[in-house]
Amino acid sequence: MDDALRVPHLRATADLELRPWSLSAADLELVREASADDLIPITMAPATSSREAATRFVERQWQRATDRTGYPMVIVRRRDNTPVGSIGLWLKDIDEGRASLGYWVVRSARGHGVAADALAAVALWALQELHIPRLQLYVEPWNRASIRTAERAGFECEGLLRSWQKVGNRRRDMFMYARLATETLAEADRVCTG
Ligand SMILES: CC(C)(COP(=O)(O)OP(=O)(O)OC[C@H]1O[C@@H](n2cnc3c(N)ncnc32)[C@H](O)[C@@H]1OP(=O)(O)O)[C@@H](O)C(=O)NCCC(=O)NCCS
Repeated sequence: MDDALRVPHLRATADLELRPWSLSAADLELVREASADDLIPITMAPATSSREAATRFVERQWQRATDRTGYPMVIVRRRDNTPVGSIGLWLKDIDEGRASLGYWVVRSARGHGVAADALAAVALWALQELHIPRLQLYVEPWNRASIRTAERAGFECEGLLRSWQKVGNRRRDMFMYARLATETLAEADRVCTG
């Protein structure tokens, strides 16, 4: 059997680092805050805030590295060593040379560009160290904060995927954003408007 993936520690900025999930009180508190958010639980975190649900969430993140399906990381603010969000690089289509990314930041830490800095750091690592040719993001057209995050991290909009996936009990359109190994980092100039 293949070895588990090694989730790295990455320095995104002077005040931001990315690291593997732990069962520390701070990481469980992050999951609890995310689970109480009005947007994050729809697809990404448990919708209940019990300690057991938070523990199972962290164990699922570890399982993804064990199964070699992706690299889940916690986004940590270094100045007070506080976990503020989550970002993952997912490898379902890696045999085709593609990986996708997902991210969230808890409400108490939003509005400071944390997601864009974390996304730019993971993208650079994936392109330069893992040599993945193409990175993809799926963003709902109403989600302006995520669209700006993608653009600031150098992802370009390639179009609207109609009725692309089921979120909750409705099928949703998604913008496809991508960044290629052959491109240098610049803020995206192909953008879509919702
Ligand atoms: C998307 C998300 C990760 C962004 O987190 P963040 O790092 O705090 O992002 P910021 O609040 O700094 O916003 C980034 C940009 O979006 C803009 N923005 C934020 N909220 C906005 C809104 N409601 N309408 C329009 N623009 C908005 C900001 O002004 C900023 O733009 P700038 O780069 O031009 O200055 C966060 O909002 C989140 O966790 N949302 C819920 C989960 C989610 O949607 N994940 C992504 C799924 S694809």
